Amino acid sequence: MRLLITGGAGFIGGHIAEQAVELGWTVAVVDDLSGGRRENVPAAARFFQCDIRNLAGLQQVFAEFRPELVSHQAAQASVSVSVREPIRDAEINILGSINVMQCCVQHGVQHLVFASTGGAIYGEVPEGTRASLATTPVPQSPYACSKFAVEKYLESFRREHGLKSTVLRYANVYGPRQDPHGEAGVVAIFCNRMLVGEPVSVFARRTEGDPGCVRDYVFISDVVKANLAAMQGRIPDSMLNVGTGVETTTLQLAEQLKQILQSSSDVRFGGIRPGDVERSLLDATRMQELLGAPVSVAEGLQQTARWFRAHRNR
Ligand SMILES: NC(=O)c1ccc[n+]([C@@H]2O[C@H](COP(=O)([O-])OP(=O)(O)OC[C@H]3O[C@@H](n4cnc5c(N)ncnc54)[C@H](O)[C@@H]3O)[C@@H](O)[C@H]2O)c1
Repeated sequence: MRLLITGGAGFIGGHIAEQAVELGWTVAVVDDLSGGRRENVPAAARFFQCDIRNLAGLQQVFAEFRPELVSHQAAQASVSVSVREPIRDAEINILGSINVMQCCVQHGVQHLVFASTGGAIYGEVPEGTRASLATTPVPQSPYACSKFAVEKYLESFRREHGLKSTVLRYANVYGPRQDPHGEAGVVAIFCNRMLVGEPVSVFARRTEGDPGCVRDYVFISDVVKANLAAMQGRIPDSMLNVGTGVETTTLQLAEQLKQILQSSSDVRFGGIRPGDVERSLLDATRMQELLGAPVSVAEGLQQTARWFRAHRNR
């Protein structure tokens, strides 16, 4: 198969590229390197440096590589940046995604997989419940609004142009190679800081000093598995929640990582971060039916911590 991955120099896209190469697929990556790293792109994959907002540039990439499958991961991926810069967020996440869809239609792409957000799209998930596909999305941040808009555009492109697509609503993804220098990716940030004994911050869920927000942390290998299964036609549904359904507070995460890394870092408490929802947790039953049990948070954190320990100076 000929697979084009947008954002393939990023954390998730790079892992998808690696697995697809291992499957023997012909892989290309399009990325503007605004957040990604060239070394995340496997040597066997072609690399096109291009901004998805540049339609002419993207058309050239499609004409040259002629993909059969597209995994659309490129995005402005930070909730807090989207709150500060909603226009840039919409330009990349909405207009850039429409460019990708148009190219898919023009070049007869068989299947498009879209990286949406289960972590942000449902808004607040009430205590004692998990968000399923039957839950009405209540996107709050500009980032969540842009992802929701693209889901709707995909429906329209399916109806109007017959473009086949799968929407994957990821929970909070973590694992080796996640960027520890951004504002998102708390597992990577904590690992990086704890390895050098720097303090870590638990931002408040409601009031400073509480255990922080509740999240559903899903390991990268399960996200890659869902992407490949969707592209191989092994997910009959047009949308899937990708998570574990296990709730973890930021404080629990900090304590587990501190123990795994044997770190002496202080855990400090901060205020509420703009755009953050208090509690997000996915119902991932359908994913488990289709793909089997996900990697447990304990195992995923061990693997991630091991990687960050071995790559300290990154
Ligand atoms: N990491 C998570 O927890 C999570 C959760 C839900 C959804 N997602 C979504 O998954 C996708 C991948 O996320 P990630 O964690 O790998 O983020 P990432 O920032 O590591 O990767 C995004 C990649 O997109 C590239 N990019 C950004 N703007 C671009 C543009 N205008 N043109 C071309 N390339 C551009 C960046 O350079 C980067 O390589 C994103 O769509 C994100 O919104 C991630």
